[in-house]
Amino acid sequence: MDILFVASECAPFVKTGGLADVIGAVPKSLAVAGARVRVLIPSYPGLQDLASDGTTVARFDDLFGGQAEIKAASAEGLELLLLVAPHHFSRAGNIYLGADGQDWPDNHLRFAALSYAGAEIAKNGVDAWKPDVVNVHDWQAGLLPAYLAQSSKTAPPVVMTIHNISFQGLFDASQLKNLKLKREMFTTDRVEYYGRISFLKAGIALSDRITTVSPSYACELLTPEFGMGLHGLLQARRKDLSGILNGIDLDVWNPETDPHLAKTYSVRSLKRREANKREIETTFGLRRSDGPLFCVISRLTSQKGLDLLLDCLPGLVAERANLALLGSGTSELEQKFLAASKQNPDQIGVIIGYDEPVSHLLQGGSDALLIPSRFEPCGLTQLYGLRYGTLPVVARTGGLADTVIDANEAAIAANCATGFQFAPINATMLGQAIARACAAYRQPGMWSGMMRRAMRHPVGWNASSAAYLRIYAGLAAGRDQD
Ligand code: ADP
Ligand code: GLC
Repeated sequence: MDILFVASECAPFVKTGGLADVIGAVPKSLAVAGARVRVLIPSYPGLQDLASDGTTVARFDDLFGGQAEIKAASAEGLELLLLVAPHHFSRAGNIYLGADGQDWPDNHLRFAALSYAGAEIAKNGVDAWKPDVVNVHDWQAGLLPAYLAQSSKTAPPVVMTIHNISFQGLFDASQLKNLKLKREMFTTDRVEYYGRISFLKAGIALSDRITTVSPSYACELLTPEFGMGLHGLLQARRKDLSGILNGIDLDVWNPETDPHLAKTYSVRSLKRREANKREIETTFGLRRSDGPLFCVISRLTSQKGLDLLLDCLPGLVAERANLALLGSGTSELEQKFLAASKQNPDQIGVIIGYDEPVSHLLQGGSDALLIPSRFEPCGLTQLYGLRYGTLPVVARTGGLADTVIDANEAAIAANCATGFQFAPINATMLGQAIARACAAYRQPGMWSGMMRRAMRHPVGWNASSAAYLRIYAGLAAGRDQD
């Protein structure tokens, strides 16, 4: 089985969130199951050296405003197809945003270029390799099936994976020609969305199958509240939609070998975590306390519900708990958390920024992880938390609901709790969940039992990559019968 992935980010090379982690991990797991995956991503500045050493496998004289080529290269156990298009991707800073914090004004052309290049590979192959199936991820690759649909050439089936429906890639209808889309594509069953062009809608409408990243989110997407305007289309395509839970890369996120920890540990040596807690206290300027150390590792946006946490800080402080927050996002939230830390520096430590090593350290030494998201397609930090024994305190939504077992009376009696869930998603219920976690922490036997259970909870990719493979195989077999 040969599969082409098309995405805008891929860990460890370029990452702004969980999408990158998934794209960097699934191919390795699919490879173990016997599939070959090649990952098409833009060659951003951090990938330049890798691209220079790569082999040119395709060229474009004019890819939406400039020359481009695709370079094949292997690194970190992944087979990459790097889209070298300096006019689109050789820019310093965030891959989606300019220095002003706004989307790059030509994002439609940049990611149309990615989709278009992917469609060319799907149709023509590269270096004598042709994919059996293409899997496009999120809006940045959403136009790929539209380019296939308007071409007369045969092409492999396409799976669209929705990692987050709130990012839809909406652009002005006047861009149709610039995006190399034919007039007939601008209809409600193709790329048109309330008079505009939607990359994500194109992907959903024109792919053969649609997946999303947890079973609960797959159900939620069919509702007006979570479907964000696309619930009607998703309802119409319901039989083609599956929710497949994300896993994590067990090599990268392994407390027994993690190079970012002061001390590595296993389920049999939990005491060693103490050293990591001390390191976190030093890094965040916190005073040692007999209450739990909560952490947050997150984008600071309204999706993540961290405004609710601001309301709960007095309660958290009164419980003699500490909080270490690592995140970046809207300046309003950044400023509010910085102010909270200034007011209570011994118990609230805040680092504004993006820091991979510190994110690992927080998982390796905190007691609990707070994730009060308003919606969460899957969420990876709670999976890292489980593996590291940092008990997740999560809103009951999407993948959070699917992965954390709440410490209610029945779960405690049955010895299966791995964290704390709360619903409805508001500050009162988050405050109660924090209080429940603090109370559980004061019962060391129960807490360490939950830690061990959490660490043994299966969070790898095996089951989910098998589910992807079944979808790919079904599509490829269907195509063979045509
Ligand atoms: P999302 O993709 O919606 O941001 P996920 O939980 O799926 O949420 O993935 C977030 C990923 O980004 C995780 O790997 C997490 O550790 C990482 N992350 C988020 N914020 C930061 C940060 N400030 N510094 C380092 N890593 C971060
Ligand atoms: C998105 C979602 C997150 C998910 C990630 C990877 O960023 O917000 O919930 O875990 O994609 O699929």
